[in-house]
Amino acid sequence: MMKRRLKNILVTGGAGFIGSNFIHYVFNETKFNGRIINIDKLTYAGNLENLVEIDNKYGGERYFFEKADICDFDSLKRIFEKYDIDTVVNFAAESHVDRSIFGPKDFVQTNIMGTFTLLELARENWKGREDALFHHISTDEVYGSIQEGEYFYEETTYKPNSPYSASKASSDHLVRAYHKTYGLPTTISNCSNNYGSYQFPEKLIPLMMLNILEEKDLPVYGDGRNVRDWLYVEDHCSAVWEIINKGRDGETYNIGGENEWENIKLVNFLCEKIAKVKGKNEGYYKRLITFVKDRPGHDRRYAINCDKIKNELGWKRQYNFEEGLDSTIKWYMTNKGWVDRVRSGEYKKWVEKNYGLR
Ligand code: NAD
Ligand code: TYD
Repeated sequence: MMKRRLKNILVTGGAGFIGSNFIHYVFNETKFNGRIINIDKLTYAGNLENLVEIDNKYGGERYFFEKADICDFDSLKRIFEKYDIDTVVNFAAESHVDRSIFGPKDFVQTNIMGTFTLLELARENWKGREDALFHHISTDEVYGSIQEGEYFYEETTYKPNSPYSASKASSDHLVRAYHKTYGLPTTISNCSNNYGSYQFPEKLIPLMMLNILEEKDLPVYGDGRNVRDWLYVEDHCSAVWEIINKGRDGETYNIGGENEWENIKLVNFLCEKIAKVKGKNEGYYKRLITFVKDRPGHDRRYAINCDKIKNELGWKRQYNFEEGLDSTIKWYMTNKGWVDRVRSGEYKKWVEKNYGLR
């Protein structure tokens, strides 16, 4: 493998939860001295407010934002050429399983056609360049649901069960095919459930935290015994950074927290933690737990084996679950303005007024 150039990184979906954390991570925690070009369609999940500090510090010199859809070949082509892109990190996606059940079309469009469009562009632009890289961000959900005692390995057969995971699986296959067929330098990472700051409060952890704080019902799907493996978002970002620097072309790397929780246990734990912060008795918020109708096709358990990235690239997670949750609770409690604007949809107006769509 030739040394990667890693100078002009195109981050797609950089205004979303993990993408914006990744941009913060690269500027604040690494020795990177190049440019990041963030392209985002700004769907309901994209919020430029997440990047105000980065823009103030690096905007126009090392950080650039362009509003664009990853399905729009012509816009992407202009951006690729304008910034001399040598690396793509593809976060952009429709990402919420429940939404994919009610409306799968956007998932097929963005996750499959968008990835395909980006791959075509990289193939056309890089023409055999070996110092470039297309890194694709994916999920452990592509492997489907597994029994207790078993784990997902990089070789595990794909068995996606939701429109979301099926669309992600499909995009992973396209990335793999572009490497095998056209020799495009690619890497893929499949990560478990993330949590942390800037996560849209439709996902389990921020939704439960905010509902606890507001003393609203805590809707637990089915019997609450589904298991997820949780990883602090900054640990996901450091893993992606290791892969784009040192990962081998054509390889897939699993990323996980080795931190499995039944949903109901996790929700109880969040109730206890927030009770402590608020000076309430331990059981105070647990009365809000409400079992609701199960999600159709609800995967019972995800659990990842991440020995490959640990052994091969020397990555390991830095945060234990308690530390990560404590800082996430603190973040949601101190960033009430962000939460209110996201929940009311006001953030779109706020971004335009205070920040401008640059
Ligand atoms: P998110 O929904 O918070 O952010 C997605 C971003 O993509 C948003 O900013 C949105 O505006 C943008 N986007 C959507 N469609 C677009 C399009 N057509 N063109 C350009 N931009 C578009 O999602 P997230 O949780 O940050 O997830 C990021 C990536 O990580 C996704 O690929 C997801 O599949 C993957 N992933 C997420 C998790 C998790 O726990 N959240 C775990 C593993 C993998
Ligand atoms: P989610 O955060 O949507 O992530 P994913 O489905 O991609 O794993 O959900 C995590 C788990 O929590 C999943 O088993 C579904 C469950 N869940 C609830 O019980 N209630 C909720 O309100 C939500 C959003 C999720």
